[in-house]
Amino acid sequence: MDAHQNAGPEQSWHELRDTGLGFAVTYVRELGGGGGHRVEQRFAAAFPERRRVEFLAGREALHRALDAVGLDRGPVLCDGPRPRLPVGVRASISHSQGVAVALAGPAEHFRTVGIDLELSGPPLAAAHLVLGPAESGLLDPAAPDATERLLALYSAKEAAFKALSPLVDGDALPGLRAIRLTAGPDGWHASPVARPDLAVQVTVRRTAGGVLSWALPT
Ligand SMILES: CC(C)(COP(=O)(O)OP(=O)(O)OC[C@H]1O[C@@H](n2cnc3c(N)ncnc32)[C@H](O)[C@@H]1OP(=O)(O)O)[C@@H](O)C(=O)NCCC(=O)NCCS
Repeated sequence: MDAHQNAGPEQSWHELRDTGLGFAVTYVRELGGGGGHRVEQRFAAAFPERRRVEFLAGREALHRALDAVGLDRGPVLCDGPRPRLPVGVRASISHSQGVAVALAGPAEHFRTVGIDLELSGPPLAAAHLVLGPAESGLLDPAAPDATERLLALYSAKEAAFKALSPLVDGDALPGLRAIRLTAGPDGWHASPVARPDLAVQVTVRRTAGGVLSWALPT
């Protein structure tokens, strides 16, 4: 656990800035029902209210992160479940309970990026949906901090999923169990079980009420 466990996700700004990435946090409460680009607002107008609000908070965070590294080039709509990013840009978005975060950088320096904010995680009974057979040693369900540990493992895998998913076809990455986490000296190493040649390094930090994780190329 780090020393800032009661601070929000902004606490990670310095650590992420040192990597050369843009990072931004957006709170739904600061947007007054707006957020994002006008074209994104029109795109999301027919979404159910809750989804529209989180989508626009995510886009607002994305534009702030892109702007921080001089890469904001207008509206970002969708490519299936993924953001349709401009050529030469790598970025990732996460939203949880009224907070959105985004990470962005140039493709020439970052083959891929993934970010995940989790302010509530799966119950212990769902651990088998997160961890594969080779990962049973990562979680002791009887340990007093087992729920917290599962939240960190879940968030690490979600960040890794977002970073690895654009690099592989869908069959190689059907879900979180198709990613294998192994502990490293500075966090987690994550690879698709079907593609052990591909890997990302995942960092997990405590934030107020949850965890923030990011995945970067090794
Ligand atoms: C894609 C997934 C990782 C998103 O995570 P989440 O915690 O549900 O949601 P988050 O708010 O953190 O992230 C959502 C954002 O991720 C991005 N995203 C979605 N799918 C993505 C993909 N395949 N690759 C990269 N980014 C993706 C999008 O930007 C999305 O936001 P937007 O729709 O507003 O643009 C998750 O839904 C998923 O599919 N997990 C794997 C399935 C699984 O095994 N689940 C078991 C759970 S116990």
